[in-house]
Formats: sequence, structure tokens, C-alpha cells
Amino acid sequence: DTSLSAELQARMRDVPDFPRPGIVFKDITPVLADPVLFPRLIQALAEPFRDQRITKVVGVEARGFILGAPVALALNAGFVPARKPGKLPSRTVTERYALEYGTDALEMHQDAVLRGERTLIVDDVLATGGTAEATAKLIAQVGGELVGFSFLIALGFLDGVKRLGAHHVHRLITL
Ligand code: PRP
Ligand code: MG
Repeated sequence: DTSLSAELQARMRDVPDFPRPGIVFKDITPVLADPVLFPRLIQALAEPFRDQRITKVVGVEARGFILGAPVALALNAGFVPARKPGKLPSRTVTERYALEYGTDALEMHQDAVLRGERTLIVDDVLATGGTAEATAKLIAQVGGELVGFSFLIALGFLDGVKRLGAHHVHRLITL
């Protein structure tokens, strides 16, 4: 809904030169701190997936945790964290992905998503799509069925979404 998108945009804060000179950071913490707007955001992220029989929501460390866990509750699904390396205690699957400088990796517990389980990935921002693509590969490694992605913000949407294949990519704001 366009009024919700406009309200969300109005409450996000542009922070110039963070975390590096030349980058304008989209600060979503004013949205999270709003007791009316935050639940509306969660419902809107979940909405297209309500009848999709999702049983797991995967949220990506760190900002994807904040949105993914309440979306899981909204869908009556379980929540699974995809974490930076070395944080998960049990047996994991790993995916490396390229950053602007160097590489990073994400890990997920091997038994967190079952074979064939209908899964949704949630994160705050889609930019290059590298993070989301790596998360999709974690789910593929364990044989989960990826239903789609839900993002608050898509930056340069066409570039990012190209890496995400034929899946449903839901986003509330496109910049
Ligand atoms: C940001 C954002 C997404 C990712 C998007 O996370 O929260 O997860 O970048 O970028 P991409 O599409 O180019 O991969 P970041 O790695 O900064 O970490 P954080 O969530 O822990 O703040
Ligand atoms: Mg992130």
C-alpha cells in the first residue's frame, strides 16, 4: 500500500557518510522505535506469503533478525538465523559471497530447515543481492524449498533481483 510505503520512507533517516565517506546510510531505527509503524511494517512484509504455507522464515544477521523473527510469528512459522561465521554452535552449512572489498560468509544450522520445507527469506535491504543469494544457497544446500524473499528496501532493484532467480521478491520501498 502506497501510504504505508510513504510513511516508512518519511520515518527512515538518511545518514550521510556512514559507514564510509560517500555512502548515504538508510537508518531504519526510527521505524523500529514506532509502536504503530513497526507492527504495520511486519504485517506488510508477511502479507503476500500468508497463504503460502511457509513453515520457516530465515533472517540474515543482523538487521534481518529484527524483521525476520516477527514476520515468522505473523506467518505462524519458525524462525531460523543465518549468521556470520563462527557464531552458530552446532553443525552448519556455509556460503561465501563477494563484498565490495574481499569476501564474507554466512552459516546456517544444517538441521534448521528440513528437506522440502517451504521457506521465506527476510532482510531489511536488497542492494547487490549478494547476501540474499548466499542465503538462498544455504537453503538449497539443505534441500529446503525457497518460496520467496521479503525486503523493506530494494536499492537498484533490477541489479539485485537478477541474482535471485525466478523467486517471488517482495519489497515495500524501491529506491
Ligand atoms: C546490509 C543489509 C543487507 C545487506 C544487503 O547488511 O542489512 O543484509 O547489507 O547488501 P547486498 O544486497 O549488497 O548483499 P550488512 O552486511 O551491512 O550487515 P548488518 O545487517 O549486520 O548491519
Ligand atoms: Mg544485513
